[in-house]
This record gives sequence, structure tokens and C-alpha cells, in this order.
Amino acid sequence: MKSTLSVDLNNQISKIDPRIWGSFTEHLGRCVYEGIYQPDHPTADEDGFRKDVIDAVKKLKVPLIRYPGGNFVSGYNWEDGIGPKDQRPKRLDLAWRSLETNQFGLHEFMKWCTKVDAKPDMAVNLGTRGVDEARNLVEYCNFPKGTYWSDLRRKNGAEKPFNIKVWSVGNEMDGDWQVGHKTAHEYGRLVHETAKAMRLVDPSVELVACGSSNHQNTTFGSWEETVLDNAFDDVDYLSLHQYYDNFDDNLSEFLGKSVDFDRFITGVVAICDSVAARKRSTKQINLAFDEWNVWYHSMGDDKKQKPWTQAPHLLEDHYNFEDALLVGSLAITLLKHADRVKIGCLAQLINVIAPIMTNTTGDPSVWYQTIFYPFMQVSNFGQGIALKPDTDVPTYKAKDYEVPYTDSIATYNPETHETVVFIVNKSTDKVPFTLNLSNAKFDHVVDATQFAGYDIHQTNEDQSMGLEPLKQVTVEENQAKAELAPLSWNMIRISTEV
Ligand code: AHR
Repeated sequence: MKSTLSVDLNNQISKIDPRIWGSFTEHLGRCVYEGIYQPDHPTADEDGFRKDVIDAVKKLKVPLIRYPGGNFVSGYNWEDGIGPKDQRPKRLDLAWRSLETNQFGLHEFMKWCTKVDAKPDMAVNLGTRGVDEARNLVEYCNFPKGTYWSDLRRKNGAEKPFNIKVWSVGNEMDGDWQVGHKTAHEYGRLVHETAKAMRLVDPSVELVACGSSNHQNTTFGSWEETVLDNAFDDVDYLSLHQYYDNFDDNLSEFLGKSVDFDRFITGVVAICDSVAARKRSTKQINLAFDEWNVWYHSMGDDKKQKPWTQAPHLLEDHYNFEDALLVGSLAITLLKHADRVKIGCLAQLINVIAPIMTNTTGDPSVWYQTIFYPFMQVSNFGQGIALKPDTDVPTYKAKDYEVPYTDSIATYNPETHETVVFIVNKSTDKVPFTLNLSNAKFDHVVDATQFAGYDIHQTNEDQSMGLEPLKQVTVEENQAKAELAPLSWNMIRISTEV
């Protein structure tokens, strides 16, 4: 078997929006408490933020972080999380049946974002609340001064407005599990009215409406269409959420799920464009894939958790090697759609279905999951321009899909003058890989790494897994060659003359 990827510098998918490598933090389990915020931890800074976590997050260079949920936001009162901490109410969080102390809220999140060099993607509650709270929150965050909410923000210590640009208008409103779940028509109407009010306060905001919570939802398709019928002119992005599992312990089926991911994106793009065509509009709705990952390892344990505790161990998936391969493959798929997917959020960031885990005591205080490695590489190096992939590789048959044995994409970064290729080898054999380049010349290999050689079920609590050099990459003017290890994630950076 051989795998060939041919790219042409003049045949581009699109510029990559750096926000495609965003992430997500929710008031859920130990993401905020014992993750971001733990004032009694030895590494805590003057704000109670764990410095070990800040350092780990910075390695992932996430440019955008969605907050405060997730399902949590649909029952959340944002006002509970502002003002003096000793006056903040303790509440029941119905989404995760946990206790919310509100010791971490809006101002803390904004401060933490600055410390990790990320911008916020603020979600508003359209479950139990609506237009009024959303417009008040925008006024609190973005209005300079001289009004009730803006002056309250200043009184609470933020003289300058936060100027939050990206807003998620609700969360997974298509799902009956959501507190305040709505029909597509009810939600579409509410988005229209909420967005109108939010934009009246601050016309510069960018708004994300909820699409389907997964490709398999029975309302997929009709949901998107109805929501956009009602709110097409009011929003900039439609969201997609998708988590994959491997309950069947079937490697080839599991790795084939990237085909479903691809079809999901293609389908949503088609719906956005068909609504635009029906409306005779030239506006383009782009996509925010603002929750994506593998999620299933912890589901059994979560059912055994006692309700109404603070920072319970929830959704603490320990990711194995095959999960990292699928995450790499999903990241490549996002790049293939860089012309329409402008925002992506790996869900989530810390402790909860996350690349970064914390221990409350002991060493290491922070550890990296297997999925940390491919995500770190795409977020650091999957920048610049995504090049159209012309691939030649055999496929295998999975239940519902024809799956290429390798997934690959190349990007060109005009700032660093590097062509970067990401490849997942899904086959259990070695695969000779060739990259052909047109309209530019390769110079030399800057770096070549692989994540390979592990048992598919191996997890990384002991931090023994990691990236290794990918040896014997050869480069000529218009061609690079490498041998991909069986079941491997690979990245090759080549300095390139244009
Ligand atoms: O990320 C975990 C949960 O998954 C989120 O709260 C929700 O939006 C989705 O169902």
C-alpha cells in the first residue's frame, strides 16, 4: 500500500481562521474548580488560578475559549457570578446535578483568558432565560460606561469594557436533555429576537446559533433549516457538535468516524447555502464546530456519582492511543473545510473530556492525555493556508463508510515559509508516503515527528507516551517522502521557497 498527497500552492481551500483551534471550558465537574481555579493549590497565583494549568493551556495556543457551557449555561444566571465573592449565591446546577458556588464567574473568566492569551466565546442562556438577560449581559460586558449594567461592571473592577466579540446564542437547544429545550421554530424565533437586542446594544458582535447537537439526531437537517429560516439575517455562524465513542471496541469502525464528521460538515454547508439560495441572499453563514471530541470512557462512572456535590469527578475520560488517532483525523477534517469552518472548539480543555488533566495532590500536578499531542501540533502549526488535497490512497470498508487508510492535509504558512503536512495512518501496516508540491519548492525539513508504536488501549497517566522523531524523511525540490509507522499520527514541517 502507498499513500500520495499532491498539493499546489495555487490551489487553496482557504486561509485558516486561527479560531478553528479553539476550545471549551464549562462549569462541569473539575473543569473550573480544581482545574482553572483552586486558590489552595501550591501553584495558585494571586487570583487563585493554577499556574501549572495556565502553562499547559498555553502550550495548546487556543485562541478562543467557549464559556460557561454547555448544558450548564441553559440554567445559569450570569449575575450570580459577579460582585463580591462572599455574597455570591450557591445554586443547584441542574444540567450536571452539581453544586455551583459561583466563586468563579465572568470577571474571573475574563482575567484567566488574558493569562492564557485567549479570547472568550460567551454563551448566553436561552434555556431558562432569554432576550432580557442576553441584552443585559452584552451591556455589562461591552458598553463603555454611564448605564446601569456598564457601571456595575466598573464597580466590580473592570473599568474598560470586555468587548466580547463572539457569542453563542444558547446551547444544544435541539436536545430534550437541555433545560428549556425548544422546537426549531421556537428556538429560531427566539434567536431572531435575542440577536436583534444583542446587536442593538453592540452591533459589532458575532453570533453563533445552535445547529444540531449531533449528526445522528433525528431532527438533523430540518432543525438547521428552520432555525435559519427564522434567523438567517441575525447570525454569522451555525454550530455543530459531535462526540464519537468506541463502545464496540472496533478500531477500524472507530477510525472511520472521521468520514461521518466530514459528511456532517458537508451537509450543514449545503443547508446553509440552500437557505441562502431560497432567500436570494448573498450572505454566507459559516460554521462553528464548537464541540468535538471522543467521549465515552467515563459514562459508566458518571452514573455512579452522588448528586449535588461541588466539583465532582465527571466526564473524566482517560484517552487512549486510538482516541488520539481519531482526534488527529478529525482535526485534519476541520482543515479540509477551512473555507467554511471558522470556529472550532475541542471539547473540552481541562479535566472534563479534556487534553489536560489535573491531580489535586501529588506529582505530576498536571498531565497530558494522548489527544493533547495531535491537538497541540495542529493548533501550533496548522496555520496559514489550507491547500486542496489531491490524494491517492486505498480505502477500506467500514459499516457505513468507505474509509481511506490515510488521512492527510498540507498547509502553507506565509509567515514562517513552511509547508506542514499532517497525516494519520489508520492501517496496521507501514505505509510509504509521498507529498508532491507544485508552484513552490521544498528546501529542508524543519521538523518531523510521529506519535506511534503504542497499544491502541494505552493511556497516558504515567506520561510515558509522547512524540518522537519521524526519521528518514527525504526531501527534493517538489517531493517529500516518509515511511509512516502502522497506526500513527505524523507531522512534517518543510521550509518552502515560493
Ligand atoms: O461537553 C459536554 C456536554 O456535551 C456539553 O455540556 C453539552 O453541550 C454537550 O452535550
